[in-house]
Amino acid sequence: MEASSLNIPINADNAIVWHDERLLLLDQRVLPEKAEFIGFDTPQLAAEAIRQMVVRGAPAIGITAAYGVVLAARLRAAASPTAWKVGLKEDMELLAQSRPTAVNLFWALARMQGVIDTLNETDDPVSRLLEEAKAIHQEDIAANRKMGELGAGLIEEATQVITHCNAGALATGGYGTALGVVRSGHAAGKISQVCADETRPWMQGSRLTAWELQQDNIPVTLLVEGAAASLLAQGDVGWVIVGSDRIAANGDVANKIGTYTLAVAAKYHGVKVMVVAPTSTIDMSLSSGRDIPIESRDPAEVLSFGGKQIGAEGVGAWNPVFDVTPAALVDAIVTEKGVVRSPDSKKMAELMA
Ligand code: MRU
Repeated sequence: MEASSLNIPINADNAIVWHDERLLLLDQRVLPEKAEFIGFDTPQLAAEAIRQMVVRGAPAIGITAAYGVVLAARLRAAASPTAWKVGLKEDMELLAQSRPTAVNLFWALARMQGVIDTLNETDDPVSRLLEEAKAIHQEDIAANRKMGELGAGLIEEATQVITHCNAGALATGGYGTALGVVRSGHAAGKISQVCADETRPWMQGSRLTAWELQQDNIPVTLLVEGAAASLLAQGDVGWVIVGSDRIAANGDVANKIGTYTLAVAAKYHGVKVMVVAPTSTIDMSLSSGRDIPIESRDPAEVLSFGGKQIGAEGVGAWNPVFDVTPAALVDAIVTEKGVVRSPDSKKMAELMA
């Protein structure tokens, strides 16, 4: 459905909307060409939307899953008002299988489970679960605002920055993680321009980051990620600023494939790397990034472009969609609870204590 027909303002902060008892997602596969919402009434379709990238970005996936639990509870409670928990558990398992790397998904489902545990089978679960999903959503926005402030505070003088993928309002409940710092930093006169990697193969940089920043009148220039090292070599970029899908207990950071390459190039050229992520992205159960499950997607995503096959018939492709940047390449992890400089296990444990 056309966004305009719903009377919902078309902007990146409205990518996930609970409207008229339904979940609406701004279809991120067709932006910026079209602004269309898809409405969801079942957890199965919400899980499929996560898998198919209608919604993407770690915090946004978690928020969507939380609303997916509300949809599931409504259907299960209507079908069995005094025995909805077993069916709901199945639905939550399905939501958990939608994508493997962003820990925010599992974090949000665990939070919803915490509420379910306080309810009896004879209670109506919907209003309490909706309240929790909305709280998860609002807390994410508040965390992003706080991180925006803290991250911008690390930037000493006005500079250009480079970002990878989309860690903006579209990828979160609103405002963004890495792009939250960009928004705050630009407003404070510390960020003059954003250089955005196009981010093959889904083009989150070209299609989403550039769109979001343009809407906010923040100067943005696109580059193919292969150009990033040459840009860093020119000496005009002060910071690499990225988001994350999962951070291990030692500060290793999983993020969109290509982040590691960018961090290596940044280290070589003496450019600092800032990772901006809420504590819901930190997984203290994994001692290092080696244990983070990395999603592999269909090789067809690499072998085609804009719906057209570009790889020769019969050629294969490797398509891991995240990589792990070792903590040693990260200068600062910015969370809503504070900043960890030169992260290691001890500092991460202190943050999460
Ligand atoms: O495959 P995607 O688009 O879900 O990957 C998203 C990213 O890698 C983001 O950088 C990350 O989720 C942080 S979003 C605030």
